[in-house]
Amino acid sequence: MTGSSRGIGAETAKLLADRGAKVVINYRSSETEAHAVADEIRDAGGEALVAQADVTDASAVEQMVEGVIDRWGRIDVLVNNANMPFATKSFESMTWDEFSSKLDAELKAAFTVSKAVLPQMVEQEYGRAIYVSSGAGQSPSPGFIAHGTAKSGLDAFAKYIAQEYGPHGITANVVAPGLVETDATAGHIDDVRDQVASQTPLNRVAQPEDVAHAIASLAGEGAQFVTGTYTPVNGGSEME
Ligand SMILES: NC(=O)c1ccc[n+]([C@@H]2O[C@H](COP(=O)([O-])OP(=O)(O)OC[C@H]3O[C@@H](n4cnc5c(N)ncnc54)[C@H](OP(=O)(O)O)[C@@H]3O)[C@@H](O)[C@H]2O)c1
Repeated sequence: MTGSSRGIGAETAKLLADRGAKVVINYRSSETEAHAVADEIRDAGGEALVAQADVTDASAVEQMVEGVIDRWGRIDVLVNNANMPFATKSFESMTWDEFSSKLDAELKAAFTVSKAVLPQMVEQEYGRAIYVSSGAGQSPSPGFIAHGTAKSGLDAFAKYIAQEYGPHGITANVVAPGLVETDATAGHIDDVRDQVASQTPLNRVAQPEDVAHAIASLAGEGAQFVTGTYTPVNGGSEME
Protein backbone atom coordinates (compact mmCIF):
# COMPACT_ATOMS: atom_id res chain seq x y z
CA MET A 1 0.00 0.00 0.00
CA THR A 2 1.94 3.06 -1.15
CA GLY A 3 1.41 6.31 0.74
CA SER A 4 -0.39 4.81 3.70
CA SER A 5 0.79 7.05 6.52
CA ARG A 6 -2.14 9.41 5.92
CA GLY A 7 -5.41 9.90 4.04
CA ILE A 8 -6.89 7.31 1.70
CA GLY A 9 -3.85 5.04 2.06
CA ALA A 10 -4.03 4.94 5.86
CA GLU A 11 -7.76 4.11 5.85
CA THR A 12 -7.30 1.46 3.19
CA ALA A 13 -4.43 -0.18 5.08
CA LYS A 14 -6.58 -0.34 8.23
CA LEU A 15 -9.55 -1.78 6.34
CA LEU A 16 -7.47 -4.41 4.54
CA ALA A 17 -5.83 -5.37 7.85
CA ASP A 18 -9.26 -5.63 9.43
CA ARG A 19 -10.14 -8.09 6.68
CA GLY A 20 -7.12 -10.23 7.49
CA ALA A 21 -4.38 -8.85 5.22
CA LYS A 22 -0.83 -8.26 6.43
CA VAL A 23 -0.19 -4.70 5.33
CA VAL A 24 2.85 -2.59 4.53
CA ILE A 25 2.57 1.01 5.69
CA ASN A 26 4.68 2.88 3.18
CA TYR A 27 5.55 6.54 3.67
CA ARG A 28 8.06 9.08 2.43
CA SER A 29 8.48 11.49 5.35
CA SER A 30 5.61 11.05 7.86
CA GLU A 31 7.33 8.51 10.07
CA THR A 32 5.28 9.24 13.20
CA GLU A 33 1.98 8.98 11.32
CA ALA A 34 3.07 5.74 9.62
CA HIS A 35 3.94 4.14 12.95
CA ALA A 36 0.62 5.35 14.41
CA VAL A 37 -1.27 3.57 11.59
CA ALA A 38 0.74 0.38 12.15
CA ASP A 39 0.19 0.56 15.93
CA GLU A 40 -3.55 0.95 15.42
CA ILE A 41 -3.58 -2.13 13.18
CA ARG A 42 -1.54 -4.17 15.67
CA ASP A 43 -3.70 -3.03 18.59
CA ALA A 44 -6.70 -4.36 16.68
CA GLY A 45 -4.97 -7.73 16.26
CA GLY A 46 -3.65 -7.22 12.73
CA GLU A 47 -0.17 -7.38 11.21
CA ALA A 48 1.62 -4.36 9.78
CA LEU A 49 5.11 -3.50 8.60
CA VAL A 50 6.31 0.10 8.29
CA ALA A 51 8.48 0.86 5.25
CA GLN A 52 10.00 4.20 4.33
CA ALA A 53 10.52 4.57 0.59
CA ASP A 54 10.01 7.36 -1.89
CA VAL A 55 7.96 5.62 -4.58
CA THR A 56 9.71 7.56 -7.32
CA ASP A 57 13.06 6.11 -6.23
CA ALA A 58 13.49 2.71 -7.90
CA SER A 59 16.22 1.40 -5.59
CA ALA A 60 14.30 2.42 -2.44
CA VAL A 61 11.17 0.70 -3.78
CA GLU A 62 13.10 -2.46 -4.72
CA GLN A 63 14.58 -2.57 -1.22
CA MET A 64 11.13 -2.16 0.32
CA VAL A 65 9.66 -4.93 -1.83
CA GLU A 66 12.57 -7.27 -1.06
CA GLY A 67 12.05 -6.60 2.64
CA VAL A 68 8.37 -7.51 2.38
CA ILE A 69 9.09 -10.71 0.47
CA ASP A 70 11.81 -11.68 2.97
CA ARG A 71 9.37 -11.13 5.80
CA TRP A 72 6.11 -12.53 4.42
CA GLY A 73 7.11 -14.53 1.34
CA ARG A 74 4.56 -13.04 -1.04
CA ILE A 75 2.68 -9.94 -2.15
CA ASP A 76 -0.95 -10.50 -3.11
CA VAL A 77 -2.18 -6.93 -3.40
CA LEU A 78 -0.49 -3.76 -4.63
CA VAL A 79 -2.29 -0.48 -4.04
CA ASN A 80 -0.56 2.32 -5.93
CA ASN A 81 -1.86 5.33 -4.02
CA ALA A 82 0.90 7.74 -2.92
CA ASN A 83 -0.09 11.30 -3.66
CA MET A 84 2.21 13.09 -6.11
CA PRO A 85 2.10 16.89 -5.81
CA PHE A 86 0.93 19.10 -8.66
CA ALA A 87 0.52 22.75 -9.60
CA THR A 88 -3.12 23.87 -9.60
CA LYS A 89 -3.38 26.49 -12.32
CA SER A 90 -4.67 27.18 -15.80
CA PHE A 91 -2.88 25.92 -18.89
CA GLU A 92 -2.17 29.55 -19.77
CA SER A 93 -0.06 30.10 -16.65
CA MET A 94 1.43 26.59 -16.45
CA THR A 95 5.08 26.03 -17.33
CA TRP A 96 6.34 22.84 -18.92
CA ASP A 97 8.39 22.11 -15.80
CA GLU A 98 5.30 22.30 -13.59
CA PHE A 99 3.26 20.19 -15.99
CA SER A 100 5.89 17.57 -16.73
CA SER A 101 6.97 17.16 -13.10
CA LYS A 102 3.48 15.86 -12.25
CA LEU A 103 3.39 13.55 -15.29
CA ASP A 104 6.84 12.27 -14.44
CA ALA A 105 6.16 11.67 -10.74
CA GLU A 106 2.72 10.06 -11.22
CA LEU A 107 3.82 7.68 -13.94
CA LYS A 108 7.25 7.02 -12.46
CA ALA A 109 5.66 5.98 -9.17
CA ALA A 110 3.24 3.60 -10.90
CA PHE A 111 5.99 2.26 -13.17
CA THR A 112 8.54 1.81 -10.39
CA VAL A 113 6.22 0.15 -7.92
CA SER A 114 4.68 -2.11 -10.57
CA LYS A 115 8.15 -3.11 -11.87
CA ALA A 116 9.18 -4.11 -8.37
CA VAL A 117 6.02 -6.00 -7.36
CA LEU A 118 4.72 -7.67 -10.53
CA PRO A 119 7.57 -10.22 -10.92
CA GLN A 120 6.67 -11.60 -7.48
CA MET A 121 2.99 -11.78 -8.48
CA VAL A 122 3.96 -13.59 -11.69
CA GLU A 123 5.90 -16.11 -9.63
CA GLN A 124 2.83 -16.62 -7.44
CA GLU A 125 0.53 -16.71 -10.50
CA TYR A 126 -1.69 -14.43 -8.44
CA GLY A 127 -1.99 -10.73 -7.78
CA ARG A 128 -4.26 -7.74 -7.54
CA ALA A 129 -2.93 -4.35 -8.62
CA ILE A 130 -5.10 -1.36 -7.83
CA TYR A 131 -4.21 2.11 -9.06
CA VAL A 132 -5.70 5.14 -7.31
CA SER A 133 -6.50 7.67 -9.99
CA SER A 134 -8.86 10.66 -9.95
CA GLY A 135 -12.09 11.65 -11.65
CA ALA A 136 -10.10 14.62 -12.98
CA GLY A 137 -8.44 12.21 -15.41
CA GLN A 138 -11.68 11.69 -17.34
CA SER A 139 -13.62 14.84 -16.61
CA PRO A 140 -11.80 18.19 -16.60
CA SER A 141 -11.88 20.45 -13.60
CA PRO A 142 -10.54 24.06 -13.78
CA GLY A 143 -6.90 24.25 -12.71
CA PHE A 144 -6.39 20.49 -12.69
CA ILE A 145 -4.81 20.07 -16.11
CA ALA A 146 -1.53 18.63 -14.79
CA HIS A 147 -3.22 16.31 -12.31
CA GLY A 148 -5.95 15.21 -14.75
CA THR A 149 -3.56 14.55 -17.61
CA ALA A 150 -1.26 12.53 -15.35
CA LYS A 151 -4.16 10.50 -13.95
CA SER A 152 -5.54 9.73 -17.40
CA GLY A 153 -2.08 8.38 -18.22
CA LEU A 154 -2.31 6.24 -15.10
CA ASP A 155 -5.74 4.96 -16.23
CA ALA A 156 -4.25 3.82 -19.54
CA PHE A 157 -1.21 2.33 -17.79
CA ALA A 158 -3.46 0.18 -15.59
CA LYS A 159 -5.27 -1.22 -18.64
CA TYR A 160 -1.97 -2.20 -20.24
CA ILE A 161 -0.93 -3.94 -17.03
CA ALA A 162 -4.30 -5.73 -16.96
CA GLN A 163 -3.79 -6.93 -20.52
CA GLU A 164 -0.17 -8.04 -20.18
CA TYR A 165 -0.44 -9.67 -16.77
CA GLY A 166 -3.92 -11.25 -17.00
CA PRO A 167 -2.48 -14.54 -18.28
CA HIS A 168 -0.52 -14.76 -14.99
CA GLY A 169 -3.63 -14.56 -12.83
CA ILE A 170 -3.03 -10.88 -12.06
CA THR A 171 -5.78 -8.27 -12.24
CA ALA A 172 -5.27 -4.52 -12.55
CA ASN A 173 -8.01 -2.02 -11.86
CA VAL A 174 -8.43 1.71 -11.30
CA VAL A 175 -10.27 3.41 -8.45
CA ALA A 176 -10.99 7.04 -9.23
CA PRO A 177 -12.17 9.24 -6.38
CA GLY A 178 -13.80 12.62 -6.75
CA LEU A 179 -13.14 15.14 -3.97
CA VAL A 180 -12.09 13.37 -0.74
CA GLU A 181 -11.55 14.97 2.65
CA THR A 182 -7.82 14.42 3.34
CA ASP A 183 -4.73 16.50 4.08
CA ALA A 184 -4.35 16.93 0.32
CA THR A 185 -7.61 18.87 0.11
CA ALA A 186 -7.57 20.50 3.57
CA GLY A 187 -6.54 23.87 2.15
CA HIS A 188 -9.61 24.39 -0.03
CA ILE A 189 -12.29 21.86 0.93
CA ASP A 190 -14.12 24.27 3.26
CA ASP A 191 -14.69 26.59 0.30
CA VAL A 192 -16.23 23.92 -1.92
CA ARG A 193 -17.71 21.28 0.41
CA ASP A 194 -21.30 22.54 0.32
CA GLN A 195 -21.26 23.15 -3.41
CA VAL A 196 -19.79 19.72 -4.19
CA ALA A 197 -22.23 18.02 -1.80
CA SER A 198 -25.19 19.78 -3.41
CA GLN A 199 -24.10 18.51 -6.86
CA THR A 200 -23.62 14.96 -5.55
CA PRO A 201 -26.61 12.58 -5.51
CA LEU A 202 -25.36 11.00 -2.27
CA ASN A 203 -25.30 14.53 -0.89
CA ARG A 204 -21.89 14.72 0.78
CA VAL A 205 -18.18 14.85 0.13
CA ALA A 206 -16.24 11.54 0.24
CA GLN A 207 -14.29 10.43 3.27
CA PRO A 208 -11.12 8.30 2.92
CA GLU A 209 -13.03 5.18 4.05
CA ASP A 210 -15.38 5.51 1.04
CA VAL A 211 -12.40 5.02 -1.25
CA ALA A 212 -10.91 2.34 1.02
CA HIS A 213 -14.06 0.22 0.65
CA ALA A 214 -13.92 0.39 -3.16
CA ILE A 215 -10.24 -0.62 -3.10
CA ALA A 216 -10.91 -3.44 -0.64
CA SER A 217 -13.67 -4.84 -2.82
CA LEU A 218 -11.33 -4.97 -5.82
CA ALA A 219 -8.76 -6.68 -3.59
CA GLY A 220 -11.33 -9.16 -2.31
CA GLU A 221 -12.63 -12.51 -3.53
CA GLY A 222 -15.67 -11.02 -5.24
CA ALA A 223 -13.46 -9.32 -7.82
CA GLN A 224 -11.58 -12.40 -9.00
CA PHE A 225 -12.73 -12.00 -12.66
CA VAL A 226 -12.67 -8.20 -12.70
CA THR A 227 -9.78 -6.57 -14.51
CA GLY A 228 -9.07 -3.50 -16.62
CA THR A 229 -11.93 -1.64 -14.98
CA TYR A 230 -12.38 1.95 -13.84
CA THR A 231 -14.40 2.53 -10.67
CA PRO A 232 -15.43 6.11 -9.88
CA VAL A 233 -15.93 6.82 -6.16
CA ASN A 234 -17.76 10.12 -6.28
CA GLY A 235 -21.25 9.66 -4.83
CA GLY A 236 -22.68 10.00 -8.34
CA SER A 237 -21.38 13.52 -8.94
CA GLU A 238 -20.29 12.37 -12.38
CA MET A 239 -21.97 9.51 -14.15
CA GLU A 240 -20.71 7.51 -17.12
N1 LIG B 1 -8.01 13.70 -1.71
C1 LIG B 1 -8.66 13.80 -2.84
O1 LIG B 1 -9.61 14.61 -3.01
C2 LIG B 1 -8.31 12.90 -3.98
C3 LIG B 1 -9.14 12.91 -5.12
C4 LIG B 1 -8.84 12.11 -6.21
C5 LIG B 1 -7.72 11.28 -6.16
N2 LIG B 1 -6.93 11.28 -5.06
C6 LIG B 1 -5.76 10.38 -5.08
O2 LIG B 1 -5.75 9.59 -3.92
C7 LIG B 1 -4.41 9.25 -3.57
C8 LIG B 1 -4.16 9.54 -2.10
O3 LIG B 1 -4.43 10.91 -1.87
P1 LIG B 1 -4.72 11.49 -0.40
O4 LIG B 1 -5.69 12.61 -0.57
O5 LIG B 1 -5.02 10.37 0.53
O6 LIG B 1 -3.29 12.12 -0.06
P2 LIG B 1 -2.67 12.62 1.35
O7 LIG B 1 -3.70 12.64 2.41
O8 LIG B 1 -1.93 13.86 0.99
O9 LIG B 1 -1.63 11.45 1.71
C9 LIG B 1 -0.62 11.22 0.81
C10 LIG B 1 0.13 9.96 1.17
O10 LIG B 1 1.08 9.70 0.11
C11 LIG B 1 2.37 9.60 0.69
N3 LIG B 1 3.40 10.04 -0.25
C12 LIG B 1 3.48 11.22 -0.90
N4 LIG B 1 4.56 11.24 -1.69
C13 LIG B 1 5.16 10.04 -1.54
C14 LIG B 1 6.31 9.44 -2.10
N5 LIG B 1 7.07 10.08 -3.01
N6 LIG B 1 6.65 8.18 -1.71
C15 LIG B 1 5.90 7.51 -0.80
N7 LIG B 1 4.79 8.02 -0.25
C16 LIG B 1 4.43 9.27 -0.61
C17 LIG B 1 2.32 10.45 1.95
O11 LIG B 1 3.36 10.06 2.83
P3 LIG B 1 4.27 11.19 3.56
O12 LIG B 1 3.36 11.97 4.44
O13 LIG B 1 5.30 10.41 4.28
O14 LIG B 1 4.82 12.04 2.44
C18 LIG B 1 0.93 10.09 2.46
O15 LIG B 1 0.91 8.87 3.13
C19 LIG B 1 -3.52 10.05 -4.52
O16 LIG B 1 -3.09 9.22 -5.58
C20 LIG B 1 -4.44 11.13 -5.04
O17 LIG B 1 -4.10 11.64 -6.31
C21 LIG B 1 -7.20 12.06 -3.96
